[in-house]
Amino acid sequence: MNLGAVQQPILPGSVIGILGGGQLARMTALAARAMGYRILVLDPDPHCAAAPVADAVVAAPFDDPHAALQLARQCSVVTYEIERIAPAVLHAVAAVAPLRPSASVLERVQDRMRQKRFLERHEFPVGPWRPVNSAPELQSALAELGACRVKRSQGGYDGRSQMRLKSCADAHAAFAQLGGTCVAEAELALAAELSVLVARSRQGETAVYPVAANWHDDGVLAYTLLPALIDPALARRASALAVSLAEVLDLEGLLVVEMFVTQSGELLVNELAPRPHNTFHAAGECCATSQFEQFVRAICGLPLGSVELHGAAVLLNLLGREAGDAAADAAAALQIPGVSLHLYGKQPRPRRKIGHLVARGGDASQALHRADRAAQLLGLSPGVSDVKGCPIACPGLEEPSAPFLR
Ligand SMILES: Nc1ncnc2c1ncn2[C@@H]1O[C@H](COP(=O)(O)OP(=O)(O)O)[C@@H](O)[C@H]1O
Ligand SMILES: [Mg+2]
Repeated sequence: MNLGAVQQPILPGSVIGILGGGQLARMTALAARAMGYRILVLDPDPHCAAAPVADAVVAAPFDDPHAALQLARQCSVVTYEIERIAPAVLHAVAAVAPLRPSASVLERVQDRMRQKRFLERHEFPVGPWRPVNSAPELQSALAELGACRVKRSQGGYDGRSQMRLKSCADAHAAFAQLGGTCVAEAELALAAELSVLVARSRQGETAVYPVAANWHDDGVLAYTLLPALIDPALARRASALAVSLAEVLDLEGLLVVEMFVTQSGELLVNELAPRPHNTFHAAGECCATSQFEQFVRAICGLPLGSVELHGAAVLLNLLGREAGDAAADAAAALQIPGVSLHLYGKQPRPRRKIGHLVARGGDASQALHRADRAAQLLGLSPGVSDVKGCPIACPGLEEPSAPFLR
């Protein structure tokens, strides 16, 4: 590879390769195409969500180095939108094209156990956890930690491949069901869930988005408020933590750090994602630069965009249901001012993410009330005001900047 050429910005007109063709690749491709780039996607499904907006799809599994090479040879830069890319694919790609973020970033985060060890080695705060390679090890973890979340080390997402366990008696059945290597995490009493998005370019330039507050239902993200209504000192701590993680990883691209705030006031890292993230979809509506445009800028070595905030916005995830035309249903929410609709063109299966709404407002109160109306109109469950800790139910919210958490 010609290193001199690699240092140059990758200019519009060039081809960007994306490993993974889900909704994150689709929205990245839309932003990249608007800027004049061309897009190649690798995904096992030739009809993946990104297919209609990519220039071409290489249909192959994520452990096929030959297919990945075929893609990489046509690209000026390659990135990924999911974690489960085989190391052999990452290394094959990196041998012929710049891979951003690097293979070593993904290798450090794609396995939960390795990720936790990496975090501990660099003294980032994580909750109590134990490695679990057998049912007896799971029993000991439960005896030591009490109630636990047991998570498969590889491949889980949206609350899948994890279980809540209370007693040692459940260990054998749970381990048999999860199988393989797992981590057992102490079940934490959470005051809030936050996430921070950092963009970092090859030159070391960083841009940190305002902190987001997230509410999950059964392990799946339901709502995000951007910016979180939190004490500025907590926001500064969360942002500094994410920036130092991006530096330790020598990141080129995006990093999202999911964080827990416990009821005793600790700020802990939950997990890392070196790519665009569901909790920052609303940045497209309320920040000067969407996360997808920022991603393209960061991996292409262009100047990063402003993350200046305009008002506030709530993201509402749309999940597949048993029946009904989800797209037509969701369009009904467009009658509410400030609401925009994003659909991914995916077949609706129960609890599958098929799209999202963003409710924008001049401040958090207006955005939350618009999101609440949209959720009611579409019959989303839980509603915005039903989620535990949602500030819409907080009496101080009439004063828009009132922090609900310190
Ligand atoms: N140790 C824990 N204590 C309390 N809640 C947890 C814990 N681990 C996960 N959760 C809840 O489950 C959600 C999904 O877990 P996470 O580890 O982030 O998996 P995923 O990769 O599926 O997002 C979290 O956002 C949080 O709401
Ligand atoms: Mg998560």
